[in-house]
Amino acid sequence: MKSTEIREKFLKFFESKGHTIVRSSPLVPGNDPTMLLTNSGMVQFKDVFLGLDTRPYKRATTVQRCVRAGGKHNDLENVGYTARHHTFFEMLGNFSFGDYFKRDAINFAWELLTKVYGLPAEKLTITVYFEDDEAYDIWANEIGVPQERIIRIDDNKGARYASDNFWQMADTGPCGPCTEIFYDHGADIWGGPPGSPEEDGDRFIEIWNLVFMQFNRDEQGVLTPLPKPSIDTGMGLERLAAVLQHVHSNYEIDLFQNLIRAASRETGATDLANNSLKVIADHIRAASFLIVDGIIPSSEGHGYVLRRIIRRALRHGYKLGQTKPFFFRLVEDLDIEMGAAYPELHDAKERVMQVLKAEEERFGETLENGMKILEAQLAKDAENLDGATAFTLYDTYGFPLDLTADICRERGVTLDEDGFTAAMEQQKKTARAAGKFKMAANVEYAGEKTKFVGYDSLVHNTHVLALYAGGVSVQELKAGDDGIVVLDTTPFYAESGGQIGDKGVIKTAAGLFEVEDTLKIQAEVFGHHGVLQSGSLKVGDTVDAQVDEAKRARTIRNHSATHLMHKALREVLGSHVQQKGSLVDPDKTRFDFSHNAPLTQEQIAQVETIVNREILENHATQAQHMSMDDAIKHGAMALFGEKYGDTVRVLDIGSSKELCGGVHVNRTGDIGLFKIVSESGVAAGIRRVEAVTGEGALALVQSINRKLTEAAGALKTSPEELPSRIAQVQDQVKSLEKEIAALKSKLAAGQGDELITQAIDVNGIKVLAATMEGADVAGLRETMDKLKDKLGTAAIVLASVLEGKVSLIAGVTADATGKVKAGELVNFVAKQVGGKGGGRADMAQAGGTDAAALPQALAGVAGWVGERVSA
Ligand code: ALA
Repeated sequence: MKSTEIREKFLKFFESKGHTIVRSSPLVPGNDPTMLLTNSGMVQFKDVFLGLDTRPYKRATTVQRCVRAGGKHNDLENVGYTARHHTFFEMLGNFSFGDYFKRDAINFAWELLTKVYGLPAEKLTITVYFEDDEAYDIWANEIGVPQERIIRIDDNKGARYASDNFWQMADTGPCGPCTEIFYDHGADIWGGPPGSPEEDGDRFIEIWNLVFMQFNRDEQGVLTPLPKPSIDTGMGLERLAAVLQHVHSNYEIDLFQNLIRAASRETGATDLANNSLKVIADHIRAASFLIVDGIIPSSEGHGYVLRRIIRRALRHGYKLGQTKPFFFRLVEDLDIEMGAAYPELHDAKERVMQVLKAEEERFGETLENGMKILEAQLAKDAENLDGATAFTLYDTYGFPLDLTADICRERGVTLDEDGFTAAMEQQKKTARAAGKFKMAANVEYAGEKTKFVGYDSLVHNTHVLALYAGGVSVQELKAGDDGIVVLDTTPFYAESGGQIGDKGVIKTAAGLFEVEDTLKIQAEVFGHHGVLQSGSLKVGDTVDAQVDEAKRARTIRNHSATHLMHKALREVLGSHVQQKGSLVDPDKTRFDFSHNAPLTQEQIAQVETIVNREILENHATQAQHMSMDDAIKHGAMALFGEKYGDTVRVLDIGSSKELCGGVHVNRTGDIGLFKIVSESGVAAGIRRVEAVTGEGALALVQSINRKLTEAAGALKTSPEELPSRIAQVQDQVKSLEKEIAALKSKLAAGQGDELITQAIDVNGIKVLAATMEGADVAGLRETMDKLKDKLGTAAIVLASVLEGKVSLIAGVTADATGKVKAGELVNFVAKQVGGKGGGRADMAQAGGTDAAALPQALAGVAGWVGERVSA
């Protein structure tokens, strides 16, 4: 049974049992900071289990793409070593949201496996959570599985809820006891039943996990019952296919065979059982789908998971002798296997290939150098790899730790992971010590947190809590001192979330402190950095803190525009657009995001239009504090990897909703004009847009207009007519160029007559070797023909130098070709000017690069001919 049919039968079966077929969600879970990647079918339904979200159906079924290569469920290091682990796999699942529970779930599973897929009942073994008598009874008494094939699985070493039969999606979230169905691949394969010492063998393979979702686990590990007991099941398509296709390894199923052959084609490894081919076949699936879902290789978060997978695959390619980029070509093969089931893969194919190729090119060289370092170290000690070397490989050669671990495992080398961690810590410390100004903010402070009032006010009367000069705490600053001021309450915004810190002044009756920047010195303590311009400032002083209003106003216009632009970019380019960095200051917004190609002029214009439309609609901005869950329900975009507290600030501007602590305009209309200034690439798969607003946008438009007017003036036309005037001028230039070329050639032809006089007689043959100024090849040929006519028996070489390149042509009259061959003659000269050529016996052509050697080469022609005709 082909994989396609297995998928279809699964969905049809559950549809016939009242389930709604739901599409696979992307690999990046929407707005869930507890989970890096979709690791199972239930992820898209997490909130439904928790009672935070409702759907129009109570029963659902899916074929979900999953990746287990990071976080709680991580199989990366097992890929290539077992018959059944993958980074990417497809999970078949059925779900009940407070509808049916254990009895139906078990009955459905049994019916599907034994009746629809036709598996023999006696090949199936069941596990249950050790305390779950209800599930045990259903299996034993209703289904009739013999007791020796129902195994209760204990809590792992007595750790509560740590059994293999207690499933949880992550450290927190929905969880519950489960029952698992195993298939016995037969006694000729090593391994024992679940719970036995040989359970890790490949004989008894878990094919289906039925989870009885009953609890939500919080950060303290406390389990709270879910609103309604629910069902979440997961069956790996690849494992089931292995059973139904009568093979023992997932890598032998239809979905993998062609990929393995493709990996063999690309690496030249002919033994199809080679584990490295399996690794490559597995990793191209994970890497491609991660890219399809908007991830690009980077050094953090999702991007680092992707990078680790790609680099691991490349290392295995390298092991097979393939040192050139190859991995990206497998995307074509993957598309043939899976593009029909996943049209999103087919559509993104070109982009996926580009991203992979760029990463291959980036890593190729360091992989080779890193391997040399590693081999050298292992030559010294073949049993242990020290942490420092592993760290150098990581830091300098881009070897993710698991890549180094993979090599060590292959060769039975022990890797000092603690040593690696220590080396990493040490480097971080050194980097911290090296940081200057911003790190000086790392001062000791144990007082009150700063109360920020700058959302509403720009001037505030408050008092000084602490002062620092040269990084140490002081009681007083004197005129001229550089320092940091900590206030009780402040209207100054401290740099965060891409928005730069405010500038302004802090005034007392006796002193004036100019704030150059505001930075957090601790998570919630703001440091006002600057210089005391006059008077003095003491701890405890009452002060007026005044933000520079104009700069702040410009900054927040740019910030609010950034939100609108982010939204518009997703609308125009697609939802793979994710923020990768931003900087908002008074002059501009600079926004980095994931996208693989330069934006076209039209796309830029579309983004501008959408943003300016929202500005004109003059929506009121709304900021609300709420729980993370409510924020997600509200539809707010969160950035993965950002730390959000228990309550978050949700900012609605126009149609954009984002989590943001920054300061914004009151109404979109306050932004004024929004204009994109530039678009460029900053790294593979990351684009950068810079844009301006308000006065900045006006200044930009005015400056463009001024240049346009100047340019039009220079061409004596109006700005409107400028493009057609430029086209006209270009046409003129072209026809002038043609004219010049024709004149040059005429001129060159004129030189021909003069050349006749330079020919010398060598034993009855007229020999001429000369340079013609400014002639092109056509000119040389034309002159050659004339010279041959006029000189009678002759051997001629004509040369010209144009833009440093030498063109040569040799001609020999028919009555002399018996003795002198034009092809040899031209090569005699060409050799000396760094080129070569060829042609017939009477006419040959060549080129060269060394113009300086030409005169001497030509001077040798007469002698060369002489040698041939005298003989
Ligand atoms: N969510 C369950 C699993 O992944 C079904 O095994």
